[in-house]
Amino acid sequence: MPGIAEPAPLPWWHRAAVYQVYPRSFRDLNADGTGDLRGVIHELPYIAALAVDALWLSPFYSSPQNDSGYDVVDPRSVDPIYGTLEDAQELIDQAHFRGLRVLVDVVPNHSSIDRPWFQEALAAGPGSPERAHYHFLDGRGPLGDEPPNNWVSMFGGSAWTRITEPDGSPGQWYLHLFDATQPDLNWSNPHVHLDALDTLRFWLDKGADGFRVDVALGLAKDMDYPDIDDPEGLVLALRMDLDDGSAEAGARRRRVANSPILDRDEVQDIYREWRAVLDSYPGDRMAVAEAWVPPERAARYVASDTLHQIFNFDFMAVGWDADRIRTVVQQTLDGLRDVGAPPTWALSNHDTPRVVTRLGGGDVGRRRARAMALVAHCLPGSVYVYQGEELGLEDADIPDEARRDPVWFRTKGAQRGRDGGRVPLPWAGALPPYGFHDATEAEVQPSLWLPPPPDWASFTVEAQLRDASSTLGQYRAMHRLRHAHPGFVDLHNVTWPDAEPGVFIVRRGCGFACVVNCTDREITSPIEGYVMTASDASVRLERNVVTLPPDTGAWIQA
Ligand code: GLC
Repeated sequence: MPGIAEPAPLPWWHRAAVYQVYPRSFRDLNADGTGDLRGVIHELPYIAALAVDALWLSPFYSSPQNDSGYDVVDPRSVDPIYGTLEDAQELIDQAHFRGLRVLVDVVPNHSSIDRPWFQEALAAGPGSPERAHYHFLDGRGPLGDEPPNNWVSMFGGSAWTRITEPDGSPGQWYLHLFDATQPDLNWSNPHVHLDALDTLRFWLDKGADGFRVDVALGLAKDMDYPDIDDPEGLVLALRMDLDDGSAEAGARRRRVANSPILDRDEVQDIYREWRAVLDSYPGDRMAVAEAWVPPERAARYVASDTLHQIFNFDFMAVGWDADRIRTVVQQTLDGLRDVGAPPTWALSNHDTPRVVTRLGGGDVGRRRARAMALVAHCLPGSVYVYQGEELGLEDADIPDEARRDPVWFRTKGAQRGRDGGRVPLPWAGALPPYGFHDATEAEVQPSLWLPPPPDWASFTVEAQLRDASSTLGQYRAMHRLRHAHPGFVDLHNVTWPDAEPGVFIVRRGCGFACVVNCTDREITSPIEGYVMTASDASVRLERNVVTLPPDTGAWIQA
């Protein structure tokens, strides 16, 4: 219309479906038992056919793999087990060619002990500039043989490890919020800032569309290193399985806010520097924070001069409870409304149990997970899908001797860790390795880095592609429908029609509603209309009336 300017289109990440690729377990093209970047390139047509907008690659940088690559030696390199820098470039270019954006992981909170900086720090001795790249402190007690304070590792045990000085004497202690092989970098040191900016530019120059920021709430520490009241309790605040939505869990969560090691106000100064770099590049580059903070703290990470998105762990923790789902969705929208940042929705990632397992496991868990996927995909903002979720996989039983997660080792088996959700994807065939690699029977069969279960034949990509009513079919349908409805983006178009207890209903202004039945009996949807897609073939439509058996959901065009 003359005289009226078209509003500028919103950047892609305001309404993206992002597919998380965990390269170790995606596809193994060189048949050594571990996934690789050429495997991702090979399967880009699969990702593109999922109709997602972007992929996020978990770390593939050089690493001794003590924490599956989140222990980085050189963040501007590719580990030989994953391929080469040329492979990474080709992956970014080919993804772009197929219309897919690419996010890479940055791991700024810590490095590997094998990073030259850390080895130089060990050699250089107390008080040296080399030690100032990390947090080295003298121990307490007359002999310095007690840790400098009572902080504990997220993976169990003390957050401090004592070193031996170059002269052979018992020495200082260094801080590690995770495994002892992952020393925390010292963000009060300007060198650490400059180095991270180099890493951002390195991947932006290669065409990366943005970053997933690992442990984004942890970089800044209280440099007085005070003891914490109940340090174990602070770590429990980040345990998803302990969040039942109770007042007690809420109080525990609030302890994270501006604590000595997590979510400190000054961490945003770091992201202001990063934002300036991101904004200096053409195209819509972005960053998403891995930061499980109380809802009222989330907006700080996504202000106009900090990052762009923050993962929504409250939603990821939500159980099969219609009321709680609605509360968390509303809280999320309220928390971000003033800053105008798009919310994010995810049901699982490489650190959590798979959503099928979390919601009960087996057939029931799978039915619920498919219904929850309808919720996650119908809300404004971006949805993140962890590889294998689109296949309805559940956590695999891993024999203790095959476990890899440092959480298992550091807690001495008290926590089983995250391996069950990280098993290599099943692509085809009736038996392990289900096409994860293509080594023929006559060739030496590599053992996979984690063993897949014997009963995944019906969950392979190949099996599900044959069946439009499969979980894979549902994910493809949801992503296509998101593209067909630009109204998904509107943060304000969310209303809550009356619903009986146990039934979740959200109406979107773009002409449809999502109805999910969390009760144990069949219900008739109070919203009538045409079923756009449903989580299960048992959902029935007769003359505009939709009937939903327990543990099912539907998108209804009304
Ligand atoms: C993040 C990663 C997790 C890793 C930890 C330490 O939470 O997602 O996999 O173990 O950081 O890097």
